[in-house]
Amino acid sequence: MKLHPDELEIDPRIEHAATLPGIAYTDSAYWQRQLTRVWPRAWLFCTAPEARVTPWEPLPGLLHEPLVWVRDGELTCLSNVCTHRGALLVSRPCDVTSLRCPYHGRRFGLTGRCQHMPEFEGVVGFPARSDDLRRYPVLSVGPLVGTCLDLDAPLVDLGAGLDWLQARLGSVYRRMLAAFDSGGAQLLFARRYELRANWALYCDNYLEGFHIPFVHPALNQALDFNGYRTELFAQGSLQVGFASPGEPDGACFQLSAGDPDFEHPSGRVAGYYAQLFPGLMLNFYPWGLSVNLVEPSGAETSIVTYLVYVWDASRLEIGAGADLHRVELEDEAIVEQVQRGVRSSAYVRGRYSPSREQGVHHFQRWLLCAMQGKPWAFGAGTALGAGTALGAGTALGAGTAP
Ligand code: FES
Ligand SMILES: [Fe+2]
Repeated sequence: MKLHPDELEIDPRIEHAATLPGIAYTDSAYWQRQLTRVWPRAWLFCTAPEARVTPWEPLPGLLHEPLVWVRDGELTCLSNVCTHRGALLVSRPCDVTSLRCPYHGRRFGLTGRCQHMPEFEGVVGFPARSDDLRRYPVLSVGPLVGTCLDLDAPLVDLGAGLDWLQARLGSVYRRMLAAFDSGGAQLLFARRYELRANWALYCDNYLEGFHIPFVHPALNQALDFNGYRTELFAQGSLQVGFASPGEPDGACFQLSAGDPDFEHPSGRVAGYYAQLFPGLMLNFYPWGLSVNLVEPSGAETSIVTYLVYVWDASRLEIGAGADLHRVELEDEAIVEQVQRGVRSSAYVRGRYSPSREQGVHHFQRWLLCAMQGKPWAFGAGTALGAGTALGAGTALGAGTAP
């Protein structure tokens, strides 16, 4: 069996496909691909900075790209490295009106333009554009702001993915935007979990509801396992959890007539779980939003940043969004256990459930493509559920072939 990252294939037909091999989560050849081909071209996120100038190092110790956020009217993201001889410009959040290098005093405007340098009289062609700070793209998603280090070819068209999600979730997405715009979204808690597993294993687990009856018995009471569905789009996937028949209305979204899931035949929606490649997860509940941001910290370790925002506290503690901390710990325990399992020489590759693991198959195909440096071509649009055609998505109900 061919297991080299360049020779591996995952069949696009899920019924024929085998999963990523265990070594994809452990072996240095795969890890190097993740480190050099996936994350430097991915969108990277942090919570929106508060100070005017805030240094930020995404994936510390792995990417080696010190950045600085500048909030001066609009938010910009600049390199935090002086273009003279490479000193770091800013070391802590501050409220300055220009960036002055602590090494020899080069000064940059808040747009990154090189404004002044002592003792540089007579330097030919100075300052040039190459003396300005590199500027990166910025995108905000609810409470997060993100950037991509690859200016030419981001791996994921995140804007298009968010557009898909907004059209798909309708009033649920609009409510989230309104809550963050108006300041109505309250941070309930922020946690940072250190996971002894490769980041992609955490994603695999997130991407299926298959394990819910086994791993999350309490959550399983709140969700209707048969109605659970996964929908794919080019930049990620969406899982829709329908409420168990006995759940109170407060545990379900009150959808509007224009929403794709309004009066859905599978019942009332209790939660929407969206992943955007590679590691951004947005979980929509009737009370608010929880975010999981998964990032590698090593070949077999990762950091999961977990943020919970509430805008309707009366609905907290009921339904699929109750006791998220316990669900998170249950997930982490099983994922760490799987990391030990995939190290075994007895585990090579698995197979997928066509009705329950479409999201895992989709993500693993995308990840393999990214690790191989190949362009990702996800099939053009098929109709979504509930009679709504939205373009670049494929509907996959539980047990339903598209
Ligand atoms: S390294 Fe910044 S002024 Fe010299
Ligand atoms: Fe889970």
